[in-house]
Amino acid sequence: MVKICCLGAGYVGGPTMAVIALKCPDVEVVVVDISAARIDAWNSDALPIYEPGLDDVVRRCRGRNLFFSSDVERHVGEADIVFVSVNTPTKARGLGAGKAADLTYWESAARMIAAVATSDKVVVEKSTVPVKTAEAIEKILDHNGRDGVGFQILSNPEFLAEGTAIRDLLAPDRVLIGGRETAAGRAAVQALKDVYARWVPEERILTTNLWSAELSKLAANAFLAQRISSVNAMSALCEATGADVAEVAYAVGKDSRIGAKFLNASVGFGGSCFQKDILNLVYICECNGLPEVANYWKQVIKINDYQKSRFVNRVVSSMFNTVAGKKIAVLGFAFKKDTGDTRETPAIDVCKGLIGDKAKVSIYDPQVTEDQVQRDLAMSKFDWDHPVHLQPMSPTAIKQVSVAWDAYEAARDAHGVCILTEWDEFRSLDYARIYGGMQKPAFVFDGRNVVDAEKLREIGFIVYSIGKPLDAWLKDMPAVA
Ligand code: NAD
Ligand code: UDX
Repeated sequence: MVKICCLGAGYVGGPTMAVIALKCPDVEVVVVDISAARIDAWNSDALPIYEPGLDDVVRRCRGRNLFFSSDVERHVGEADIVFVSVNTPTKARGLGAGKAADLTYWESAARMIAAVATSDKVVVEKSTVPVKTAEAIEKILDHNGRDGVGFQILSNPEFLAEGTAIRDLLAPDRVLIGGRETAAGRAAVQALKDVYARWVPEERILTTNLWSAELSKLAANAFLAQRISSVNAMSALCEATGADVAEVAYAVGKDSRIGAKFLNASVGFGGSCFQKDILNLVYICECNGLPEVANYWKQVIKINDYQKSRFVNRVVSSMFNTVAGKKIAVLGFAFKKDTGDTRETPAIDVCKGLIGDKAKVSIYDPQVTEDQVQRDLAMSKFDWDHPVHLQPMSPTAIKQVSVAWDAYEAARDAHGVCILTEWDEFRSLDYARIYGGMQKPAFVFDGRNVVDAEKLREIGFIVYSIGKPLDAWLKDMPAVA
């Protein structure tokens, strides 16, 4: 029986291993983590992450061939294949701060693997890492491992998106495996390929050299984020000219060379990956003496920051250039629908912008707790992706911020409503009821283009939708970006 151990029971480690366990009933899969609280949650009925379909997969495998444990060293010692899916946040301090990947967690994982391994191991990079990380990991393993114990390192980056993780894992566009071009390297690649081949068609399992696999992950995220920044840049021009970004995106996406996906204009992209991985790419370009390439990718982040501040400026300028003392309802705090994840969510920057202008913010999100909102708004940039248990547990609550139990409560007595996550339930709210309970003039700022703006205007709202032709009111109150 092949034994797999995965270090890191997070958004990637948990779902990925659950699907491997589901598809390979004869393989024992143990997910371990240094956070005992996270492991306890995986072993309970309330899993630590919200992901559609995950509960069902875990219920079917847990206790059969899927286990969650805090006994890290024992399970690493027993495994044939060790996945490492620990976090690789942006460095918050020191050399490369604000850009470079912080490999502290990865390095300590590698040192621990070397220390406890008494048999040969295939070590799989599941985390997203800078190109050439495998070389560094190899050195750590080889210099610290016991005599006679061999390590093969593979790069197997993960392409799942949150909210659709189970679907993505069950039917991936591709699985990418990079390894050393030696006999032992090829054997390790084959061993991992055999695991995925249980459910992924052979032609979708791509094998490359180590550096191509590592770089492909950063490149894929950079290309995806670039599409969003491209359409968001167009959204600003649409507002200035009377074009409609949805129509432009549709027309552009009809070109089969471009394609229709990932062209939804928004208040900005969020999530734990895009910004972090592009900053990492930028840093690698700079370190390799490629400032022009670095600047090219930096622009994707700059447009994203511009889009978030443009949104805040639009809210403030529309409401007579001040939101001081006004209640603003924020609908949606997660970085996208169908997840409770708030890492790098655009809602953080938008709320901080509104709070900075002295607004009172009332937030509703179906999956985000008050504690999480307060923690996110209290945290400094780049501290967010470090393990949850290392973050301040009870930050001083920001008094201007409250969390409501539903959208109606959030919007009661509000001057404006900002929609920041595209949760389906926001499409079908009773907006006439919301309007009735709001201060007048009542505003809706739709950062995700989920509402029918014309219907809301008939009710009486002044509506701003990203990249759509502006109301006369908004034209008269131009936002300075
Ligand atoms: P996460 O923070 O949810 O999970 C990481 C876990 O690793 C944490 O629970 C932490 O306690 C644990 N950990 C840290 N050091 C450890 C150690 N030495 N031993 C055991 N456990 C340890 O992070 P995530 O979202 O799952 O991301 C993990 C990696 O996967 C990152 O490199 C990320 O860039 C990449 N990735 C994430 C996504 C995503 O959608 N979240 C998608 C693709 C790739
Ligand atoms: C992303 C990649 O898609 C995935 O392949 C990788 O493994 C991890 O990073 P994720 O961040 O989970 O996944 O979600 P994704 O669906 O990519 O959305 C990222 C952000 O972009 C969200 O804030 C989303 O709302 C935003 N987005 C997405 C847009 O603003 N417009 C779009 O058209 C698509």
